[in-house]
Amino acid sequence: MTVRHFLTLRDLQPDELRQLIQRAAELKAGQRAGQQPVSFERRVMAMIFEKSSTRTRISFETAMAHFGGHALFLSPRDTQLGRGESIEDSARVISRMVDIVVIRTAGHDRIERFAEFSQVPVINALTDSYHPCQLLADMLTWTEARGVVAGRRAVWIGDGNNVCHSWMNAAQLFDFELKVITPAEQKPDLKLLENTASHVTWSNDISQAAGADLVITDTWASMGQEEEKQARQQIFQPYQVTEEVMAAANADAIFMHCLPAYRGLEVTEEVIDGPQSVIWEEAENRLHAQKALIELLLS
Ligand code: CP
Ligand code: NVA
Repeated sequence: MTVRHFLTLRDLQPDELRQLIQRAAELKAGQRAGQQPVSFERRVMAMIFEKSSTRTRISFETAMAHFGGHALFLSPRDTQLGRGESIEDSARVISRMVDIVVIRTAGHDRIERFAEFSQVPVINALTDSYHPCQLLADMLTWTEARGVVAGRRAVWIGDGNNVCHSWMNAAQLFDFELKVITPAEQKPDLKLLENTASHVTWSNDISQAAGADLVITDTWASMGQEEEKQARQQIFQPYQVTEEVMAAANADAIFMHCLPAYRGLEVTEEVIDGPQSVIWEEAENRLHAQKALIELLLS
């Protein structure tokens, strides 16, 4: 039997994604009502994290605790991967012992290689190219806030980065329009732009953000770009999400950010802490959406 992985949103079909979001909402309501989720007692998740994390780590560990299973957090210091054991050998060994593997790493090829040699499902917890788990939470958040997302218009402002790439995939799979607005030198992946052209357009003109149902941004300096922080601030300054940007959006538009956020850089305090922002719900939804994903992959 072939193993199912979740390396990008494209590993699930549109109807599976819609069902997953519905299931995540049920799990959230169940948790609020004090119900126990299905049990994955004695199931073990290995969490290989080669980059920092607050939300992703805590949501996966908490999900496994709620399921009655166990999560092993493995930083590069904790395994031989950090000392140069190959990804292929690590995948073969780790996947003989655990039931599911979650990986946060830099190069997307690293997670693809791990998945190729893994006997158990592998989940992408962020690479330099994609952050699909974030989008599960974001689709739940948008749906909760405004109902059906199909046919709506989202605007991404800032860096054409990993989260942006997953938004581009989401636009096609959930059937909404996405305008990506970035400086010309920070465009998203050109091949992906071409492949998602049915739903995604690109511009370097922030006035194109007008008429949005949803405005999204992310940090201007992702993990691994710390050295370039100053230079990047210069390039991105005209792309800050301000009250003026939100005023040009639709009256019921919401604001989202995967976090961590840097107030005064990619977004002003007034916007991120203002009435249109749904960032705290979005952060909590990582837990519920990933529970639905674990259920799907372990069942
Ligand atoms: N949004 C997100 O993935 O946050 P962390 O880096 O804290 O996991
Ligand atoms: N683009 C950011 C997202 C963090 C969740 C990064 O890669 O650091």
